[in-house]
Amino acid sequence: MFDKLREIEKNVSETLSKARSLDELNEIRVRFLGRKGEITTLLRGLKDLKPDERAEFGRTANEVKDHLEMAISKKINDLKRLEMETRLQNEKVDVTLPGLPFQRGGKHPLSLVTEEIREIFTGMGFSVAEGPEIESDYYNFEALNIPKDHPARDMQDSFYISEEILLRTHTSPVQVRTMEKMAPHLPVKIIVPGRVYRRDDDATHSPMFHQVEGLLVDTRITFGDLKGILMTFARKIFSEDLEVRYRPSFFPFTEPSAEMDISCVICKGSGCRVCSNTGWLEILGAGMVNPRVLQYGGYDPEYVTGFAFGMGVERIAMLKYGVNDLRLFFDNDVRFLKQF
Ligand code: PHE
Repeated sequence: MFDKLREIEKNVSETLSKARSLDELNEIRVRFLGRKGEITTLLRGLKDLKPDERAEFGRTANEVKDHLEMAISKKINDLKRLEMETRLQNEKVDVTLPGLPFQRGGKHPLSLVTEEIREIFTGMGFSVAEGPEIESDYYNFEALNIPKDHPARDMQDSFYISEEILLRTHTSPVQVRTMEKMAPHLPVKIIVPGRVYRRDDDATHSPMFHQVEGLLVDTRITFGDLKGILMTFARKIFSEDLEVRYRPSFFPFTEPSAEMDISCVICKGSGCRVCSNTGWLEILGAGMVNPRVLQYGGYDPEYVTGFAFGMGVERIAMLKYGVNDLRLFFDNDVRFLKQF
């Protein structure tokens, strides 16, 4: 039986040195030290030994058992350490590697142009005002001298929410809204960027588009002031050698009214496809604020005068960047947007 014990001890050392995983070690433990393991079985034969042998065998068997336990735990530790080392090796991160490229967004061309327009006008002392996109018939039409049956309403057919409420067709309603808030304070000197809505949809019209309104009310404001401000604006946003001209026009809320043309940004006035060979491009509507509108706003037209203008942001952006279809601004195709 002593021989058997020695043999087991030898066996264990051999199998242990070959073990490569915690599972294998567990098997070894069960095989030799488990309840049905080889040493346990051997110890069951204790009762058949002579008393003096019994004591000695028991002691030796326990020694072997302890020794084995220790060897197995040591091996377990070795394996765990090895496993950790391999993991650390495999999961090693090179913190000096360059980072992954990261896609940065850019501003939408319409935002860029709106910002530029704002910059130019705030630089000339205008403040920025805003108004609601869901507007009342009163501010969108009535207070701008466009009564219910007026034919000018047909030019700006809109989306109605009810008889009295609609999506605003222009930024002009903010003229009276602002004057109401400020009267009798002078000057009223604002621009109004914002979204507007009309029932139109083709290559140069979209049901939703952007305008920038301008309004200057003070004592002794003349058409000359309007011309000076708009000329400065046009030259800053397009180019310093630009020419402008005014054509008589009609808006119920300005009197007299005009449309401003700029010399064609493509051919510089000699005539091309973009300007239909006229050499001129229409860019905005303007005029002297109608006395009735001043009254609606709470100002006395005997003492103050003013001018107003309204421009389409998409139109300015198309001319500035040479874009031939307005719908491109709203498709949100990155290949288009990336170019700005
Ligand atoms: N509101 C007009 C439009 O949308 C533009 C305009 C504004 C004209 C201010 C004159 C004065 O067509």
